[in-house]
Amino acid sequence: MKILITAGPTREAIDPVRYLSNRSSGKMGFALAEAAAQRDHEVILISGPVHLPTPPRVARVDVITAQEMYEAVVRHLAGVEVAILSAAVADYRPKEVLGQKFKKSAGEWTLTLEPAPDILGSMRRPLGFGGYLVGFAAETENLLPNAMDKLQRKSCDLMVANDVSRHDIGFDQPENAVTLLFRDGDQESLPKTSKQSLANTILDRIEIALS
Ligand code: PMT
Repeated sequence: MKILITAGPTREAIDPVRYLSNRSSGKMGFALAEAAAQRDHEVILISGPVHLPTPPRVARVDVITAQEMYEAVVRHLAGVEVAILSAAVADYRPKEVLGQKFKKSAGEWTLTLEPAPDILGSMRRPLGFGGYLVGFAAETENLLPNAMDKLQRKSCDLMVANDVSRHDIGFDQPENAVTLLFRDGDQESLPKTSKQSLANTILDRIEIALS
């Protein structure tokens, strides 16, 4: 199967030396890409800025911003049967990117943000993706209701619900504990385990759903 995976954070420039970003390391997305390639799937990994080696037999596309990630997904979507969007993409970006470094002064500095492209929310419409769609929901409260809401609003087949209020799992940790929410209402709680093991379980569930 052809599988497209997004991974890592995005960076949204404020000026030539500053940006907005988040704590994603890319470990989860890279573990998914590695596990999928080991199963002989054709893997396209679209990654934000991370410090991780490319897994064997994975085609990697590096991007920086949410806009670049969106455009890379559009460019590589033809023939994709499964899309797993595990990247921590910016929801908002500075409305104006300053051409010169902003000079410090005694006063406050107010930034105006505008929405960044919602890649997951664009997959069905306008992008017309008809394959198996997996999203990740990173939540600090009301984990399962919020994740279920995202699954429904973005027409996903599977949502991986991530409690990112815990510091021993999730962002930049080798392990994670998640709940899988399926479109038909089924739920499966997966206890804390390595991201490699979790990646294999997620791929098992996708392969079963498509068999
Ligand atoms: O990279 P690691 O350090 O291993 O950490 C893993 C992780 C915590 C980043 C990952 O497992 C995870 O939870 N990824 C989703 C993070 C996130 O942005 O969650 P969200 O609830 O804000 O977004 C929901 C979904 O929409 C995600 O599939 C996200 O990729 C997607 N999205 C979000 C915003 C946006 N502008 N475009 C998107 O496509």
